[in-house]
Amino acid sequence: MCGIVGYVGVRDALPVILDGLQRLEYRGYDSVGVAVFAGDTIHVRRNAGKLANLRERVKTDPISGGIGIGHTRWATHGAPVERNAHPHLSMNGEFVVVHNGIVENYLELREELTAEGVVFRSDTDTEVIVQLIEKFASDGAHGDVAEATRLAVQHLRGAHAIVVMSKRQPDRLIAVRIGNAGGIAIGTGEHEHFVASDIPAILDYTHSMIFLESRQMAIVRQDGFEIQTLGGQQVHAQAHTIPYDPVSAAKGEYKHFMQKEIFEQARSITDTIGGRVDFEGNQVVLPSLNLTAEQAQQLQRIVTVACGTSYFSGLIGKFYIEQLARLNVEVDYGSEYRYRDPILDDTTAVLAITQSGETVDTLAAMEEAREKGAIVWSIVNAVGSQAMRVADGHIAMNAGPEIGVASTKAFTTSVVDQYLLALYLGQLRGTLSPDAIKSHTQTLARLPDLVGRTLEIERAIHELAHQVYAYTNFLYLGRGINYPAALEGALKLKEISYIHAEGYPAGEMKHGPIALIDEHMPVVTIALKDNVYDKMLSQIEQAKARDAIVIALATEGDTVIQTKADHVIYLPEASALVNPVLSVIALQLLAYYVAVRRGADVDQPRNLAKSVTVE
Ligand code: M6R
Repeated sequence: MCGIVGYVGVRDALPVILDGLQRLEYRGYDSVGVAVFAGDTIHVRRNAGKLANLRERVKTDPISGGIGIGHTRWATHGAPVERNAHPHLSMNGEFVVVHNGIVENYLELREELTAEGVVFRSDTDTEVIVQLIEKFASDGAHGDVAEATRLAVQHLRGAHAIVVMSKRQPDRLIAVRIGNAGGIAIGTGEHEHFVASDIPAILDYTHSMIFLESRQMAIVRQDGFEIQTLGGQQVHAQAHTIPYDPVSAAKGEYKHFMQKEIFEQARSITDTIGGRVDFEGNQVVLPSLNLTAEQAQQLQRIVTVACGTSYFSGLIGKFYIEQLARLNVEVDYGSEYRYRDPILDDTTAVLAITQSGETVDTLAAMEEAREKGAIVWSIVNAVGSQAMRVADGHIAMNAGPEIGVASTKAFTTSVVDQYLLALYLGQLRGTLSPDAIKSHTQTLARLPDLVGRTLEIERAIHELAHQVYAYTNFLYLGRGINYPAALEGALKLKEISYIHAEGYPAGEMKHGPIALIDEHMPVVTIALKDNVYDKMLSQIEQAKARDAIVIALATEGDTVIQTKADHVIYLPEASALVNPVLSVIALQLLAYYVAVRRGADVDQPRNLAKSVTVE
């Protein structure tokens, strides 16, 4: 949540920071601001709303200097108005701060500082940080910014990512990470260094990055940086080379990132499978999981932890792992897991699924698992993210940068990753015959083509969206492995079009939601040819008998369904195990075109952020 960019070097800092913020806007877009040191002053420009407003403002009111920081905000404390926008200046204007996270004890600190004569100018929790730094700079730190920051952060409760700039030492930025309030990457270049909360912000400039761990501080200058613990010990951090191509993070010919990302799914699924299936040797290879056959055989259980879309992906993975590896799987929300004192030991693997690799609730569940002695794995898209680094083993989604706030290709690639994981576990545990492995890997090999054919329904979905966009409540029904697909379809619609939508197991409809059904309620049913097809037809009949407008996702060639549903969208015939991938793609398209028809901000829906780094 919130995006941070910092720059110190030979270039003009402002355009570098604005470009970085543009790439981070998906993290929050309630307000935006920059601070640049020029002459002998810190100049701040900030405003409510999006970066485009700030870009206009600095055209007429520019600032030029070689060091600066910027921030795009997802509001937690204080309304999204200019005075609450970051960066925040200290009372005497000597220090300036941008921050991700929540200062849990900010009220108490604010009272103490106010009693000492500090005058606050915002309603944010962040402002206490900069006021504390100014206080400690004169009182204990002898003007040293890093030391003042170190003293100040010791008073903060909660998780934080903070970057500080000061006119006392205007050659450096101080970056601090405490807990999981989002990452801090330090990018290195020739006579220049970058600080960012997320990799895409600085990928145009450098692919060489160092990531701060919790309770570490970086002192970043034009010609170098040093990393220390908050206890003052030097840290030798390893540089990572990040492979993303910034061009792939551009919209190209598409109107929205979400549309582009939906259409990238045949490619991203190919990349996810690539290198993991040895078709000649008839086996799946997942070396990054760091799992021996002996460990796999000793496993008793898998617990999947995730949030939002990633959680629904985990519900589909449960079908794969239970069926193919004969291991019991529980799926839990990251935000709930640590609050129920879970029973764990080293015969359980906890699998975190997270696109960003920075979701604080998922990271907390991983920590809980680590403390209780479980094996910790992650399925992650963001290379180098915390969830990738702290796991014993990981599987990359290989989806490439996902910029649209509504997750699309990360969902389908994480589902494919779990299919691969289930096959790998089945192979190591001896629960799959060579013939079974062959049949499943062929199913995977055919999937990109099926995804390509599914995307051909775009036109039909576009027309359907124009017919149903004005309804205000939708019900999504699925059964078995397609029930999580119904949940995901409903989440997509509510996120980007602000229409109320519920996902339900189809068999449960008669136990309550049926009371809602009338001629104003579209009911989206996933009625593909599988073992519950007949049951789905009965549920469609029940909904129709209450005058619902039934939209059915059906298998090509199914003519019966045309006599039952008002609208039929045909998907190619596929193995039941990959049907949810195809049905979710259809539901992504439906949500997308409904939202576009309603004129909603598809890529940056209100109140949401791509990376949820606060509890
Ligand atoms: O980065 P993560 O996969 O951990 O994110 C989890 C959720 O915040 C995320 O899936 C959210 O629900 C998306 N907005 C869904 O489109």
